[in-house]
Amino acid sequence: MLTAKAKEAFNAFNAGFKEKGKLLYQGKYSSHAVRFRAMPAQREGKEKVAIYLDNAATTYPKPEAVYKAIDHYLRHIGASAGRGAYRRALEADGLVFKTRKLLGRLFNIADVSNIIFTSNVTESLNLALKGFLREGDHVVTSHLEHNSMWRPLKVLEKERNIRITVLPSPEGKALDPEQLERTILPGTRLVALTHASNVTGTLMPLKEVGEICRRYHVPLLVDTAQTAGVFPLDIKELKIDLLAFTGHKGLLGPTGTGGLYIAPGLEIKPWKEGGTGGASLLEHQPEDLPDRFEAGTLNVAGIVGLGAAVEFILEKGVGQIREHEKALTAYALEQLCQVPGLTLYGPLNAEERVGVFSINLEDIAPEELAYVLDEAYGIMVRAGLHCAPQAHRCIGTVQRGTVRISPGYFNTKEEIEALSVALKEIISH
Ligand SMILES: Cc1ncc(COP(=O)(O)O)c(C=O)c1O
Repeated sequence: MLTAKAKEAFNAFNAGFKEKGKLLYQGKYSSHAVRFRAMPAQREGKEKVAIYLDNAATTYPKPEAVYKAIDHYLRHIGASAGRGAYRRALEADGLVFKTRKLLGRLFNIADVSNIIFTSNVTESLNLALKGFLREGDHVVTSHLEHNSMWRPLKVLEKERNIRITVLPSPEGKALDPEQLERTILPGTRLVALTHASNVTGTLMPLKEVGEICRRYHVPLLVDTAQTAGVFPLDIKELKIDLLAFTGHKGLLGPTGTGGLYIAPGLEIKPWKEGGTGGASLLEHQPEDLPDRFEAGTLNVAGIVGLGAAVEFILEKGVGQIREHEKALTAYALEQLCQVPGLTLYGPLNAEERVGVFSINLEDIAPEELAYVLDEAYGIMVRAGLHCAPQAHRCIGTVQRGTVRISPGYFNTKEEIEALSVALKEIISH
């Protein structure tokens, strides 16, 4: 017998997938929902407990200091940055600069004017790719890229005839550095890679990649969406020339923040022109960084929040954060592998991955599983292709998609266990 709550979840799910009387999707349980039995009585009281496991999309919650910093700025400072000489405006300037300095410490960037604020990593990648690549350039990338990398590359393939070599990742494996080395040609102008897949969690061998790129004098662009704030990233040690980051995932800041580090000497064309708060008589964009790329009023509130988040990360220590993440990842791998009928994609070793897990449970559609986890168990996960269809081609799930489970810094082993209990309950009936 179904609990009222679970019955409601399945009914609502099935109703949601009907349009004008036409059934768009029929889940495994749609025709025989009876198979899903009542949840054990002891879970009933816990139904309303929310377990957020969608940190790969955006992290939640944020450190308390982030909420406080944004609130303080909006309530008590409020002025724009780089635009005025009165005390509050200078205070806003100071806060923006402080965030730049903190990011500089996090990524080991000495000259922080080379850090450009953007609204997210998508904007950073667009700026790097469209600002750097020219007609006919050759680029090497991977099969695990997010659409934020893939789509701008495809546009440039059409509009600027760039040639793209895509390194394979069969079954979601990391790229092979030797293969990368073999693909570098005299005309290769950029290696553009994600550091970790947002579908399989696979970590790319960035250190080896950086060394190869340096040896062949090819700049390296890295999408750190799934690793910044979670994995130690030192641009000098890893030989990264263009580091694209987003502020709202592992960096624990608010949405609408991100950035791009541009190594000195790399010629990038700005994609927007406008006010920079100074040198107003110039008819062209100032040459100096960051103004060359930061036309328009900055997201000061967001940048202030990001600063508080990075401060939190530096206080904890990114090495410690990675260790914590690895322990949670190892526990999740162990728990998930015990669920009957569960397919887990990507590396099975915590050392080779981040805490992003794509799964499927028998033949249950990912959308249905995510819906039931949310409605009946209060567990929030994401279903679908996660904006990275190429990665799904590697693991054979491009038609079906996966359920993505992504714990974050504030998740606990107990929450992972609750997920595994829920999955076991679902599959056993
Ligand atoms: C690997 C990767 N790249 C890029 C992005 C895009 O991030 P944003 O939406 O913050 O630009 C994501 C987010 O899902 C991601 O996981």
